[in-house]
Amino acid sequence: MKEKINQYLEEVKAFNAETYDQLEQFRLKFLSKKGLIPALFADFKNVAPEERKEMGQLINGLKKAVQEKIVALKEKLDSTTETKSSGYDLTLPVEAPLGTRHPLSIVRNEIIDIFSRIGFVVSEGPEIEDDFHNFTALNFPPDHPARDMQDTFFIEKDPDIALRTHTSSVQVRVMENTQPPIRTISPGRVFRNEAISARAHCIFHQVEGLYVDTDVSFADLKQTLFYFARELFGEHTRIRFRPSYFPFTEPSAEMDVSCNICGGKGCNVCKYTGWVEILGCGMVDPNVLSNCNIDSTKYSGYAFGMGIERITMLKYRINDLRLFFENDMRFLKQFESAL
Ligand code: PHE
Repeated sequence: MKEKINQYLEEVKAFNAETYDQLEQFRLKFLSKKGLIPALFADFKNVAPEERKEMGQLINGLKKAVQEKIVALKEKLDSTTETKSSGYDLTLPVEAPLGTRHPLSIVRNEIIDIFSRIGFVVSEGPEIEDDFHNFTALNFPPDHPARDMQDTFFIEKDPDIALRTHTSSVQVRVMENTQPPIRTISPGRVFRNEAISARAHCIFHQVEGLYVDTDVSFADLKQTLFYFARELFGEHTRIRFRPSYFPFTEPSAEMDVSCNICGGKGCNVCKYTGWVEILGCGMVDPNVLSNCNIDSTKYSGYAFGMGIERITMLKYRINDLRLFFENDMRFLKQFESAL
């Protein structure tokens, strides 16, 4: 037994550990329940009584040597691996993961930015509207078929309360409360009872604009929208107007821009016409001004309205409107913007 203990002692003295794992193996070999030292203690009962004292001291000495070795090697390993053990420098400042804005927000902000540069201010209003602000004030006579142009989600009947079908309702509210000059744009969410497809949704977003002052003419409208189109789609953008109909404007028009994908040469986005429609507009009908307590003999105005989804699809070449509402990170992460 004595020889065995001395042999172990040699082994302990010579041992060195490069890793925590080696050190742990060493500890287990000697100190675990089935290790060498408990085995020596187990043999102790076979030792002759006169040798017991010496053997006891030897085994305890060995145990102490093992324990001291472990403490010493652990200190050594700690000091050499401390700084690189985690692989991270915990003192570095945090690099916060930045989110991206939704593409509709980016384009909405850009549209607001373009119009604010020429003096338009943003106005907002409720998404749940009464009949007066969504229809009647805007020159939709009762039972006029034009009310069917915008498939309305009604909430209550008599008096009619509905989800607004356009943000023209906000402009009615502005006109009711302010006298000209008025220059305002109203961005916001609107609702129409339409089947959801790649090109239509029952919830979408608009920016509508209104300008009321003395001597406002169609030329002012054209020039403002020309400026807008070039700011949004680039300086080579051209525009054209086609006659149209809205109850609240007279004359009314739809505006096309030269296709920003093919530059007007013709492609599948513009259906080989070179033009894409982006908004409706016109001169505010004098009835609308009167309905909102503005003197229509003194003032005139123009208005326009556009869908943000449609413009975003053109700008970023997105071919399915439903992507805007699905919140798929793979889609959203592609949009980065300062705005
Ligand atoms: N309000 C119209 C719509 O939602 C758009 C529009 C606004 C047209 C202003 C002309 C003038 O379709």
